[in-house]
Amino acid sequence: MLRCALLCAVLGLLRAQPFCPQACKCVVRDAAQCSGGSVAHIAALGLPTNLTHILLFRMGQGVLQNHSFSGMTVLQRLMLSDSHVSDIAPGTFNDLIKLKTLKLSRNKITHLSGSLLDKMVLLEQLFLDHNALKGIDQNMFQKLVNLQELYLNQNQLVFLPANLFTNLGKLKLLDLSGNNLTHLPKGLLGAQRKLEKLLLHSNQLSSVDSGLLDPLSALKELHLDRNHLRSIAPGAFDRLGNLNSLTLSRNRLQSLPPALFLHSSSLTWLTLFENPLEELPDVLFGEMAGLRELWLNGTQLRTLPAAAFRNLSGLRVLGVTRNPRLGALPGDVLRGLDHLRHVSLCHNRLRALPRALFRNLSSLETVQLEHNQLEALPGDLFEALPQLRQILLGRNPWLCDCGLWPFLQWLRRHPTLLGGDQPPRCGGPEPRAGLEFRDVVQGDPWCPDPRGPPPTQNSLEAPAASLLPNSSPSWPWVQLVATGERPDHSLYWGLYFLLLVAQAVVTGIIVFAMIKIGRIFRALIRERLLFG
Ligand SMILES: *[C@@H]1O[C@H](CO)[C@@H](O)[C@H](O)[C@H]1NC(C)=O
Ligand SMILES: *[C@@H]1O[C@H](CO)[C@@H](O)[C@H](O)[C@H]1NC(C)=O
Ligand SMILES: *[C@@H]1O[C@H](CO)[C@@H](O)[C@H](O)[C@H]1NC(C)=O
Ligand SMILES: *[C@@H]1O[C@H](CO)[C@@H](O)[C@H](O)[C@H]1NC(C)=O
Ligand SMILES: *[C@@H]1O[C@H](CO)[C@@H](O)[C@H](O)[C@H]1NC(C)=O
Ligand SMILES: *[C@@H]1O[C@H](CO)[C@@H](O)[C@H](O)[C@H]1NC(C)=O
Repeated sequence: MLRCALLCAVLGLLRAQPFCPQACKCVVRDAAQCSGGSVAHIAALGLPTNLTHILLFRMGQGVLQNHSFSGMTVLQRLMLSDSHVSDIAPGTFNDLIKLKTLKLSRNKITHLSGSLLDKMVLLEQLFLDHNALKGIDQNMFQKLVNLQELYLNQNQLVFLPANLFTNLGKLKLLDLSGNNLTHLPKGLLGAQRKLEKLLLHSNQLSSVDSGLLDPLSALKELHLDRNHLRSIAPGAFDRLGNLNSLTLSRNRLQSLPPALFLHSSSLTWLTLFENPLEELPDVLFGEMAGLRELWLNGTQLRTLPAAAFRNLSGLRVLGVTRNPRLGALPGDVLRGLDHLRHVSLCHNRLRALPRALFRNLSSLETVQLEHNQLEALPGDLFEALPQLRQILLGRNPWLCDCGLWPFLQWLRRHPTLLGGDQPPRCGGPEPRAGLEFRDVVQGDPWCPDPRGPPPTQNSLEAPAASLLPNSSPSWPWVQLVATGERPDHSLYWGLYFLLLVAQAVVTGIIVFAMIKIGRIFRALIRERLLFG
């Protein structure tokens, strides 16, 4: 009896030795990692049914068979990625009742049976990304009440049934990016009260409809960039009180509804660039102290509303660049940006800058103004900016006449501020055309009055073109330099002509005198020859 018991125990121990099929590695207890072989012959690997983790990768093409994972009732994580799985038999996962993670990323799956996942009530993570799914059965996820992360990105989904996610009340992350979605049905996200991250970028969505996002009160991150968005419903983001990241760049938005971000006070990341925006509403941003950076590049904006960024008090970087129509800015457009360090206004069509543009921006360090249509700048544009380190002015048709003289004098006193690979050059007038600022300011003063005419002469003050109905008379003034108008030089021209005339008269007198003297000499010589 005793001997038998001992023998049995030893045999038991022997059997308990870690068992690992050929072609697999079993580094951790209860886990196997296998590669190679065909997907269709997974059962032939002879994987023990009591494994808790299975990692299969780079398997040959094939269909997952019904019995591939039969009896694996304790399996918790099954990863079968990068393996050319083309199809999965309906009952394949029926025994995987303890599964928490199923990863089928990077296969060639085009279709999934609606009941495939029905036994996985404990599933928390489901990766179906990088496949070729064109549609999803509306019952596909109905039993996955514990699901927290669902990756459906990089497929070819064109449309989603409205009740697809109805039972996914615990979902925290939903990745639908990189599909062909054109529209999201009403009520699609009605149950996602715990959703924190919704990735919808790189689809073909054409609108964000009213109410679609309202249930998502826990949402922190929403990516809608690289779609075909033409319209966003007013108030679409109003209920997303926790939203801190929102991307809307690279869409087809020509306008935004007024006050769209008025309640988005938690935003720390917002992208709007590369939209054909023609104008911004007068009120767009509510208080948003956490936003550090904003880019408005690649738009069709012609100007910006007065005090447009006033509520973005934490902004450090503002880029309003590459807007081929942007010709003017209101004088107070940067008002309230007390922490602004870098402002880039390059590659626009700015013809002039308001005198007070950078006033009070005590943290400002760099200003980029290259590639515009600037001819002149007010002499005191950069006055009282204690942190200023660099200004870039290249590639503008600077008109180096007396209008620019005060600014050039300022530049001469601050030679280290001028930066960039492309030094600014005079576009005219003729004697100085093509010369670099550096050389022009070093040489002799060429402006008749070295102090130049007062810079205001060059600017025209006009009331803000604000469309706000309740704008008070004290509403900030827009200062625009009158485009195309030259400073008044008639006085200098008058003096110049007077000088010319005087010179002509003196020359005339001298010539006359020379002729006279010549005659006298000739007479004298003749007299000598005759009588001498
Ligand atoms: C799993 O089964 C193998 C034999 O198939 C055995 O050696 C091992 O001890 C079992 N592991 C557990 C945790 O039961
Ligand atoms: C696969 O298994 C399911 C149930 O587990 C069964 O209904 C179905 O007929 C099986 N299919 C094949 C091809 O064996
Ligand atoms: C999805 O879009 C891609 C490219 O945009 C295209 O090649 C593919 O055919 C589309 N798929 C479907 C199902 O429309
Ligand atoms: C700034 O935000 C407040 C609400 O917080 C709003 O009333 C105001 O219109 C906003 N101002 C601008 C210029 O957008
Ligand atoms: C716009 O700015 C963003 C962020 O800096 C950048 O990634 C993008 O390439 C820019 N696009 C254009 C057209 O300048
Ligand atoms: C600059 O700040 C001063 C004092 O805070 C204020 O009176 C003035 O209006 C501001 N100027 C501009 C252009 O914002």
